[in-house]
Amino acid sequence: MPKRPQDHPAQAGSTRFTMPVLPPSPDTPTPLLGNLTPAQFMRRYWQKKPLLIRQAIPDIVAPLSRDELFELADQDEVESRLITHFRNKWQMEHGPFAPDELPSVKQRAWTLLVQGVDLHDDRARALLDRFRFVPDARLDDLMISYATNGGGVGAHFDSYDVFLLQVHGKRRWRIGAQKDLSLRDDLPLKVLQHFEPEEEWVLEPGDMLYLPPHIAHDGIAEGECMTCSIGFRAPSTGELTSQFLYHLAERGEREADEAPADRAPQLYRDPQQPAVAHPGELPQALVDRLGAILAGVKWNEHDIGAFLGTYLSEPKPTVVFDAPEKPLTEARFNAVASKSGIRLDRKASMLYNRRFFFLNGEQSRIAGVKKWVVELADNRCLSAKRFVTLSDDSSVTALLHEWYCAGWIQVGEFA
Ligand code: SIN
Ligand code: CO
Repeated sequence: MPKRPQDHPAQAGSTRFTMPVLPPSPDTPTPLLGNLTPAQFMRRYWQKKPLLIRQAIPDIVAPLSRDELFELADQDEVESRLITHFRNKWQMEHGPFAPDELPSVKQRAWTLLVQGVDLHDDRARALLDRFRFVPDARLDDLMISYATNGGGVGAHFDSYDVFLLQVHGKRRWRIGAQKDLSLRDDLPLKVLQHFEPEEEWVLEPGDMLYLPPHIAHDGIAEGECMTCSIGFRAPSTGELTSQFLYHLAERGEREADEAPADRAPQLYRDPQQPAVAHPGELPQALVDRLGAILAGVKWNEHDIGAFLGTYLSEPKPTVVFDAPEKPLTEARFNAVASKSGIRLDRKASMLYNRRFFFLNGEQSRIAGVKKWVVELADNRCLSAKRFVTLSDDSSVTALLHEWYCAGWIQVGEFA
């Protein structure tokens, strides 16, 4: 196992960025999971049954203040929704919302949901990082909801696992494992036709509720409240199949481009085609030929790994990286990183398997997965000491410098 850096900000004075927070290790009991180890939680609850955890994060502070959240909801690249339940009528609007487009905080029964806050704020990213006992390939985002008294999004179910962490004020949650998940068809949002709650709790700051997919739930704010949803993703079989076939098609095109110029593309040939009385009919020989071509398309475990690594590390379409305005030269970058270490940008996604590594949808061109790759992807940072050990390998430092120029990794800001 790679060595884990300390779970606290980097050495004072050397950098101004905060180092990534590390998740609890699989076999250490943690208050985050009600003193279960992540291994026990995954075995007993994950995708199986709900779990209420009192004081999962004692003394929690909301990662963003109400005003900071409203500011985020005013930005074009941030996905936000406003849900109101005024005079017994559900309404939903999509952001961005200028400050005067949100109802007054004195008005009851409205909710603002801001998706992907981890992409925009290091504190939100740090909170999400606590849940990395689940593979990154499954982790989606951190959503923050702000609600006034009586606010909620209606009784519904989600298709994905979620941790609902109360970070400010109180929320009353009711949940049920009902079979009937039919939705009302007269509303702009997903609300169950019949909700049969079986359990009910009031969550206070620091309390958390884990729900597996398809558990009906309804959370209503008791006074002003903020809840963080740590969300997961699970690609559907249809999505995986179509995207894998697309990946294979791209590979085929690349191979064709790289083929020697004298090898002309192979076109369909039909020297045996007889004259036809039914020109509209699709020739069976053409169907057979395509069947033979498709039967010849081969893939193996490496193609599947390469597909999953690139596909699942692909940033969301709205993500834009902030490249440094005046990037350091490679030599200067090496000198600075040797003093400050490096970290992955909060928006960056890095995955690896036994053969390859992937950053932001790109497969590495360096062969093999060395220890530093595992450390950077798992810890989201490399200490200065660790960076120094890499500085002899110019192919590695050149790659890291390239990533830095793209805004995918950062070095200390004192540079
Ligand atoms: C909320 O935070 O208001 C809704 C979260 C959810 O029910 O999934
Ligand atoms: Co939900």
